[in-house]
Amino acid sequence: MHRWQTIVEPFRIHSVEPAQFTTVEQRSAWLAEAGNNLFNLRAEHVLIDLLTDSGTGAMSRDQWAAIQHGDESYAGSPSWYRFLDAVQHLFPFTHVIPTHQGRAAEKILFSVIGGPGKVVPNNTHFDTTRANVEFTGAEAVDLVIPEGRQPDLVHPFKGNMDIAALEHCIQTRGVQNIPVVFVTITNNSGGGQPVSLANLREVRGVCDKYGLPLFLDGCRFAENAWFIHEREEGQGEREIVDIVRDIAALADGMTMSAKKDGMANIGGWLAMNDDDLALKCRNLLILTEGFPTYGGLAGRDLEAIAQGLTEVVDPSYLRYRIRSTAYLADALDAAGVPVVKPAGGHAVYLDARALLPHIAPLQYPGQALATALYREGGIRGCEIGTVMFGRRPDGSEVPAAMDLVRLAIPRRTYTQSHIDYVIEVVTWVAARAGELRGMRIVDEPPALRHFTARFAPL
Ligand code: F0G
Repeated sequence: MHRWQTIVEPFRIHSVEPAQFTTVEQRSAWLAEAGNNLFNLRAEHVLIDLLTDSGTGAMSRDQWAAIQHGDESYAGSPSWYRFLDAVQHLFPFTHVIPTHQGRAAEKILFSVIGGPGKVVPNNTHFDTTRANVEFTGAEAVDLVIPEGRQPDLVHPFKGNMDIAALEHCIQTRGVQNIPVVFVTITNNSGGGQPVSLANLREVRGVCDKYGLPLFLDGCRFAENAWFIHEREEGQGEREIVDIVRDIAALADGMTMSAKKDGMANIGGWLAMNDDDLALKCRNLLILTEGFPTYGGLAGRDLEAIAQGLTEVVDPSYLRYRIRSTAYLADALDAAGVPVVKPAGGHAVYLDARALLPHIAPLQYPGQALATALYREGGIRGCEIGTVMFGRRPDGSEVPAAMDLVRLAIPRRTYTQSHIDYVIEVVTWVAARAGELRGMRIVDEPPALRHFTARFAPL
């Protein structure tokens, strides 16, 4: 039988939003006004917005219909029970604590278990996770396998935790100082790379040996499960839901942003089996988010997430999702643009350090490339490198492990012709990489500086 090569989006478009066409001159002026920080732009000045895949996806007909069923009762709403059932169907943790987004779950968890002297190992902390750990005075340690730090090295599970490094960390830092071991699936800051079931089992083994809880940062759990389905021995014939449940069964809890694989525009949760921990977290939830049956969300949001969780594990969706991301990465790779390989699940990462060897890491090659893509083509990506991670809590600055520009793909939002345009623009800018100049920071806040810092070209 013939295998068609074209990626057919597994949906038809049901309502549309206008895209805004602008000129290079206009974009140059807006960049200057924005202090060369793409977070400061007005979104309507962006043609293809690849800043994030978080909360930016298109919801389905059935999610919009579910929203009409939203019940806004303060306590015990039926929408809460639908949300709870949908979460526990995939992640059967005893306690599910709804939050308005992922970082709220992180804030609550680390407020309870963090603190000075504590050390949290993770394959790679996402920026908000790191910031929430560090805000309590604890230390965030990244222990991804060495392959995960080499952009052009192909490995099926580049998000895996370095098991020997994890044990070393526990032994040298003291088991009593480690409140939790975290694994981020997929490993966003390391290139959207998956973690294998085998690696999760090994992490579980280490946690059992030292009596430590294992938590997942599950933002992109379905994409991770699809990679396991495609790449891990013995998993190809299994249902995605069963793979997700296997992942869940290895953990003691999770934090989640439903803005990613929850297929919703807002939402998240914190889940765990530990009753005592859950009690403390719920008390904080009531203080900061809301009552435990809505936690900072409207009933309608809980409905959208519950429905989204049934759609995200659909194999025809996941096949399209992962293939269309790879389509962008493969085309750029074929055109000679350095990209993180293999393609991640939710994003393509351009290796700005390799593309711009004439710009030193402390002159932010990622920021230079990201601003050039906007200026030339109206495409908004995001620096993931020295701007995001280069500043230490003590104020000193060091180059990040990699200087990347992330082109994150919102779920079910752009068509293949949008992506073909992105390929054209990135290739054009890459061909003129030698003309790009580094940047310096003229103004920055004390933490999470990438959101608000202002830059000037050197
Ligand atoms: N963990 C990971 C791995 C994430 O990617 C994010 C968010 C969070 C936690 C925090 O979740 O935004 O709901 O508070 N990532 C988005 C991104 C913002 O663009 O990658 P949140």
